[in-house]
Amino acid sequence: MLVRLLYASRAATPLLSTTIDSILEKSRNNNRGRGITGILCYNDDLFIQVLEGSRDTVCDLYNTIVKDPRHHEVRILHFEEIRERRFGAWIMGQVNISRINSSLLLKYSEKPELNPLNCSGEASLALLYELIATASVVNRTN
Ligand SMILES: Cc1cc2nc3c(=O)[nH]c(=O)nc-3n(C[C@H](O)[C@H](O)[C@H](O)COP(=O)(O)O)c2cc1C
Repeated sequence: MLVRLLYASRAATPLLSTTIDSILEKSRNNNRGRGITGILCYNDDLFIQVLEGSRDTVCDLYNTIVKDPRHHEVRILHFEEIRERRFGAWIMGQVNISRINSSLLLKYSEKPELNPLNCSGEASLALLYELIATASVVNRTN
């Protein structure tokens, strides 16, 4: 049985590219064998990540991620049982939100900036669907 979990968090310190690289490398190493797919979006101080996989695997990984000192204020935005994956092409895709067209951000938010902690989970998920539809995610599995 598959689930999809979406959460957002604040970076503990201003994000360095080395921090992002190390999180992504670890994610790609671990997620492949666990059947986890998803994408990690970030800017200078925020993360938003969607995880798909079996319920046990996703919940166990989320419980690990929550304890990671590199971020805090981790908030679940959306959780659902799913029949099929929407992010199955990415072991852990990445999107630097600061490079996203501001009109796309404005479509789903009050201001042209990413603020998932202040907007609905539905709007954040809709933004992620739009990112995959517009080929804004890098690092596919194939
Ligand atoms: C924003 C964020 C996203 C993360 N995403 C993942 C992930 O998708 N998969 C993963 O294994 N670890 C992820 N991590 C790292 C975990 O918190 C943890 O450090 C790692 O899973 C430990 O793996 P290890 O037991 O193999 O050392 C993430 C950390 C942060 C801060």
